[in-house]
Amino acid sequence: MATSFKRKRWREEQRLRVDLNGMTAQLIGDAGLTDADFENLGPRLVEVHEALTKQRRAGTLGFAELPYEKTELRRTLALADQVRGDFDDLVVLGIGGSALGARALYTALKPPGHSTAPAAGGELRLHIADNIDPRWFGALLDRVTIKRTLFNVVSKSGETAETMSQFLIVRDRLLKELGAVEYKRHVVVTTDATGGTLRQIVNDEGFRDLTVPAGVGGRFSVLTAVGLFPAACAGVDVAEMLAGAADMDERCRRGDLRENPALLHATALYLAGEQKGRRIVVMMPYSEALSAMADWFCQLWAESLGKATDLAGARVHAGQTPVRAVGPTDQHSQLQLYIDGPADKVIVFLRVEEHAGELTVPKSYEDLETVSYLGGNRLGALVNMEQQGTELALAKAGRPTSTIICPQVNAFVVGQLFYLLEMEAAIVGGLLKINAFDQPGVEEGKQLTYGLAGRPGYEGKRADVQRWVAHKDARYIV
Ligand code: PA5
Repeated sequence: MATSFKRKRWREEQRLRVDLNGMTAQLIGDAGLTDADFENLGPRLVEVHEALTKQRRAGTLGFAELPYEKTELRRTLALADQVRGDFDDLVVLGIGGSALGARALYTALKPPGHSTAPAAGGELRLHIADNIDPRWFGALLDRVTIKRTLFNVVSKSGETAETMSQFLIVRDRLLKELGAVEYKRHVVVTTDATGGTLRQIVNDEGFRDLTVPAGVGGRFSVLTAVGLFPAACAGVDVAEMLAGAADMDERCRRGDLRENPALLHATALYLAGEQKGRRIVVMMPYSEALSAMADWFCQLWAESLGKATDLAGARVHAGQTPVRAVGPTDQHSQLQLYIDGPADKVIVFLRVEEHAGELTVPKSYEDLETVSYLGGNRLGALVNMEQQGTELALAKAGRPTSTIICPQVNAFVVGQLFYLLEMEAAIVGGLLKINAFDQPGVEEGKQLTYGLAGRPGYEGKRADVQRWVAHKDARYIV
């Protein structure tokens, strides 16, 4: 009882907070938002919130139910338990939504260098192979010891060219090195429960498998087996991450803007984009641990909101362009542009109150005041001073910012963060009146590649590319 009370208290302390002050007219002037801006949007916000609530009731807002899903979770954790003692390395073969979530949580929750340190504690070292650059992928395959490596082939559609070509290369190596019986033990497939080529392969070959729920698209799938299997294999506290997501979900169900962080933040980002011309969102964690979270966010924002038409079929070409920056590093690379360049950006900081692995700058060179002031400061505190300084520098230039405050980087916090940002994408999609859950642009690119690579049925796409190449004018190639 005492323990669960303590846990409850701890979780309350670990709740994320969203600070919108850097986006208000009160603090940054004309580029900022006023209470009236939020109030004017009130009726539309109620509609969007109600529509999402309805979708939840109808069971069609797939990602929102994931913190409570139990059946596949049990299978996922049981399989992770089974494989942990048998292997040292886990290589995820997947791309986009089938890779970025796993990388984000691994980078956040395991120490730097975990993927190259000696395997220990039954935790698998994780490698996310989300590129088919031959030199890079080949080097990864050469680095791992095949006999001690498990390959998790992740593809919801079960036919993405990059993932399937990786799988075929790996399968061939496994067959050659381990033989036709043993090799199967080295593959776990995560794919749709019934459809797609990978499912057919699982059925034919008998690989161990996990499923991606039908109504959950790639970029919303980190809290399914897609992200949770690699997480559990690497020793991440999956239950705590889901508890964080559920805790955030509870806050995101509230209809009141001031009590619902996703509704408030999504509305502010929407207003910044649509009314203040801030067409670029820079996600800027002041934390290396959260750096891959920015990559995951970029996909979430870009694929969910970048749409040609709205739900009524009108051409809208919606969507803010997401950009990744990492503080303080990118203060020395991108910040100049954000302060003095075009006034088209809103910066979203991720700030960590208590950084892990604290280092203190030793007191030295007492007679050199340009350096001695650093002595005695903790590095984590310096990082946060830099974040605050940047926030104010941007505010002085009339540049809007918001800050998501993370008490620490732990599984509970990361679960909240995933859920918060996914819900924000859904809300902004609702406000823009677009479908935030499809990705027709990505599909077209995939199909053109199928055509070029010779997949039957895609001859028309191949001809499209050939026509495009034939129309190229040599004068413009120097
Ligand atoms: O979010 C998405 O839907 C995409 O980024 C996909 O995850 C990506 O294209 C990979 O697709 P699949 O999982 O079908 O291989």
